Amino acid sequence: MRVSGTDYLTIRMEGESVFMIDQNLLPFSFSFRECKTWEDTCDAIRIMTVRGAGAIGAAAGFAMAQAYIASEDPEMAAERIRATRPTARDLFFAVDRVYQAGQKSVQAAVEEAQRLARNNIDAARNIGKYGEPLIRDGARVLTHCNAGWLGFVDYGSALSPVYMAHRGGKSVFVYAGETRPRSQGARLTAWELANEGIDHSIVPDNAGAYLMSKGMVDLVITGADRIAANGDTANKIGTFEKAIVARQFGIPFFVAAPLSTFDLSTPTGEGIEIEERSADEVNYQTGPDKEGQLHTIRVTNPGSDAFNPAFDVTPADFITGIITEKGIIKPDNNAIATLLR
Ligand code: MRU
Repeated sequence: MRVSGTDYLTIRMEGESVFMIDQNLLPFSFSFRECKTWEDTCDAIRIMTVRGAGAIGAAAGFAMAQAYIASEDPEMAAERIRATRPTARDLFFAVDRVYQAGQKSVQAAVEEAQRLARNNIDAARNIGKYGEPLIRDGARVLTHCNAGWLGFVDYGSALSPVYMAHRGGKSVFVYAGETRPRSQGARLTAWELANEGIDHSIVPDNAGAYLMSKGMVDLVITGADRIAANGDTANKIGTFEKAIVARQFGIPFFVAAPLSTFDLSTPTGEGIEIEERSADEVNYQTGPDKEGQLHTIRVTNPGSDAFNPAFDVTPADFITGIITEKGIIKPDNNAIATLLR
């Protein structure tokens, strides 16, 4: 990820510490949080200092390695790391891998966590390579949430093809859906695109049908948090609405995700646990005033309750294709089983 001309990774482990870009402070300030213990890293996942399926996968692997370094009971630590965010498959994938490696030695656990983080970068880069031809010169892409650099260790999933197309000289325009309540699109995706010099507009979450009905979108690309064996895909709340509208107007709807996001043990989307987050995320917003001072203000009717499911499931039937590091596949049992074999 390039920020003001310097390359960064979203998250890395050095020695016993994990360093991550503090995504709760973006786009207003750019800084790293150091997590010295596995509990710190768990806390960072839970409060979304680090977020996005791929990035929390890397964070979870590092947390598991830190737990081994600290000689914690690995069973207990694995349970607590898994409990931080229940929907993203990559988190569980990384905990299981590093847990297994740590049964041999602490060193093996650290090496496995580092290897998973490197694989995360390679997979995201290859998603970009396979997805890039979908983007013609002059294409207008609608995306949702943040499935870019910040959602992975680098490159991202949904935005990786966009970055490849742009760096290869194509003209691309991105509509970044704001993604209430935490506004990952308005804050993070827009910040990434601005850094990369890609033309874009932030659009309200409810603008998708308008844009697509007016012929302003050529394709939709989103990320994924968990993909069931039949291709049903959990992603940030609001994704399913985009898919329904895309189908209505005959616009291709692609999901981009690495193999680590597929979950063959979950036959259909019905079995995916959907994280429910605090009502405060709906009721309050934080941002700077004109002097740059951060404030948290209430934006809803005081006293009203709020319901905050963090993800929804788009049935496979609505998905044109899934862009993976091994190529683009149809979202069905056969294609997915073959890919993972
Ligand atoms: O911000 P999160 O962690 O709650 O949301 C997860 C996501 O980033 C998205 O759903 C994304 O599209 C998945 S891939 C980075």
